[in-house]
Amino acid sequence: MRRILVTGAFGQIGSELATALRARHGVERVLASDLALSASGPPAADGPYERLDCTELEDIRSVMRRHEVDEIYHLVAVLSAVAESDPERAWRVNVESLHNVLIAAREFGSRVFFPSSIAAFGPSTPRTDTPQVAVQRPSTMYGVTKVAGELLCDYYAARFGVDVRGLRLPGLVSHVTRPGGGTTDYAVEMLRAAASGERYSCFLAPKTRLDMMYMPDAVMAIIQLMEANPARLKHRNAYNVTAMSITPAELAAQVRERRPQFVVDYRVDPLRQSIADSWPQSLDASAAREDWGFAPRFGLAAMTEDMLRRLGAEADTSKGARQQGGTRDAERKITQNARGAA
Ligand SMILES: NC(=O)c1ccc[n+]([C@@H]2O[C@H](COP(=O)([O-])OP(=O)(O)OC[C@H]3O[C@@H](n4cnc5c(N)ncnc54)[C@H](O)[C@@H]3O)[C@@H](O)[C@H]2O)c1
Repeated sequence: MRRILVTGAFGQIGSELATALRARHGVERVLASDLALSASGPPAADGPYERLDCTELEDIRSVMRRHEVDEIYHLVAVLSAVAESDPERAWRVNVESLHNVLIAAREFGSRVFFPSSIAAFGPSTPRTDTPQVAVQRPSTMYGVTKVAGELLCDYYAARFGVDVRGLRLPGLVSHVTRPGGGTTDYAVEMLRAAASGERYSCFLAPKTRLDMMYMPDAVMAIIQLMEANPARLKHRNAYNVTAMSITPAELAAQVRERRPQFVVDYRVDPLRQSIADSWPQSLDASAAREDWGFAPRFGLAAMTEDMLRRLGAEADTSKGARQQGGTRDAERKITQNARGAA
């Protein structure tokens, strides 16, 4: 059986993408992988799982040989804020692991998905309506690794014919797995606090405008791009995508419409603020719309509504479980273990 490999499957995207791919292609066809030795909780435990450190080329080759992998969703990375605290590790994990995946994909004739980011742009890029093709001189290590990744993907496609496709994703908002140390994490943190009836101290200034997208739209976009007719893909790799361009103050206002008691204050973290200030405020996603029909369904209001409803139900369930003698958030623990080992 030819298999689809998801690397970094315990992360914010992987935990939902692996589930969506399993629903589409069958549980046994999708092999989840991450750094943890075993998967004892969702999402990876509902199907095949292998521990895989993507900085080890031989380990990738071994997994691909044993499972006859013909498609890889390579989600392994160190995210923006974490990358600034250890730039050497960020290069190793973000660039070398991608290069290993591309080498193996070339050898095994596999297709590859690679997620780039709005971080691939920098202070000299036009900040509003940032075009698909624009200056890319990022000032963060995360951004440097994303530009290097985009170029590696282009090179392997042009030189060796590897079918590698990618998106430049904005900040992603989701409720299944907590974000892994990015600059846009404030949105998830704010919605989680609001759903639990807590106040929130935001680490970005109230008027910091950045692109965002709700996870169901991101998962749909990834699947749509990988299923698109290659003849229609003018860019193939690193398509700009976004669903909304928002500030913390605008998100807080949406929350207060539904939770009038919600209180937010601002304690700006200089590192993450400087990262945010170097990124675009709104991407032009017209190339993705024209080439493969990108059409996100959730705007700010619909996303806020859905997140608060789902997180509220989650908070009620865990409160009930605590009252009955305690519970563990197995999924979060696995993710933390995986990150700790990284
Ligand atoms: N989440 C976002 O908002 C966002 C936005 C733009 C781009 N992206 C990109 O999408 C991809 C996935 O992001 P995410 O938010 O799910 O990240 P995440 O930090 O939540 O998950 C990354 C996963 O990779 C694993 N990992 C780390 N080093 C590894 C290694 N050497 N081998 C195997 N696994 C390893 C970690 O254990 C973790 O589970 C990344 O490339 C990220 O840069 C994410």
